Amino acid sequence: MTKRIYIDPSIASSDITPESVFLNRRAFIKASSGTAASALCLSTALSSAGEPSKLIYKAAPDESLRVEQTPYDAITTYNNFYEFGTDKSDPARHADSMTTDPWTIKVGGLVDKPGELHLEDLMSGFDLEERIYRFRCVEAWSMVVPWIGFPLSALLERFAPRAEGRFVEFKTLYRRSEMRGTRSFTSVIDWPYREGLRLDEAMHPLTLMAVGLYGKTLPNQNGAPLRLVVPWKYGFKSIKSIVEINVTAEQPETSWQTLQPSEYGFYANVNPEVDHPRWSQRFERKLPSSIFKPNRVPTLPFNGYQEQVAGLYEGMDLRQFY
Ligand code: MTE
Repeated sequence: MTKRIYIDPSIASSDITPESVFLNRRAFIKASSGTAASALCLSTALSSAGEPSKLIYKAAPDESLRVEQTPYDAITTYNNFYEFGTDKSDPARHADSMTTDPWTIKVGGLVDKPGELHLEDLMSGFDLEERIYRFRCVEAWSMVVPWIGFPLSALLERFAPRAEGRFVEFKTLYRRSEMRGTRSFTSVIDWPYREGLRLDEAMHPLTLMAVGLYGKTLPNQNGAPLRLVVPWKYGFKSIKSIVEINVTAEQPETSWQTLQPSEYGFYANVNPEVDHPRWSQRFERKLPSSIFKPNRVPTLPFNGYQEQVAGLYEGMDLRQFY
């Protein structure tokens, strides 16, 4: 696999959300000395539950591109994954009950070559890249996450979307026996969790299908084995544990918009100018944060990706299409 590293130049390494068990890359490079190959790949020994497999990095050309320390505790213990409960700690406690191997993703709708992808295809069938992205939740907290994945466009192109396709719909696994949140009487979502993008948003080079983070396969609580990451949109668009992708002509129904359309729009572009009806979106709490160190920072238009993506919305009233 070829190695491509994308690091947002405006994000300092020191800003990356800390991780406790980050692979000591130098030690690894020493251990694998002599391998000049610049491949970046995930271990094929995938675990379906429990400890995520380690990422194998071979020699990287620029040491400064690497984040060497930092734990991933915040990223993997403070989660939204309502299939496992609504408390931020629920996914880390309960998501291991989800079986992720075998895993099949059906790709269909308005495509010329409908078909399936399997776990093996995700891990070895695409060129994996590291993308260090800001991640901003609609609830006004944020992180900076070093994802491993591949552009969604690379996946879609394999299935040949038809000219009449204008949107892409995504669905999460819905397996009641393994997802205690879906069995809860207090559950508000009409399962399965659904999300959608316009086709041009889906094909944008920043739009990522993530299979790992911090050098390892995704932990279940972060959406194993495959999740969407759309860095300029609120986090609820970044649907986890995907099992179905359809190209459609009409705008698909999405979970949060269906549940509360006045609060959660289809577009959900990060926008400090448009408040959530119950709170301001001008600032965010950058994790990890505490009462003593709130780490409150201003929210950036399109979460800092304005230059790359604003063109997608030219002529649109972003207050109306929030
Ligand atoms: N995907 C599914 N299937 N179920 C969910 O509850 N929550 C969304 C999104 N994707 C969610 C989901 C929300 S609200 C956010 S903020 C992000 O996942 C959180 O991702 P993280 O837990 O990896 O930080």
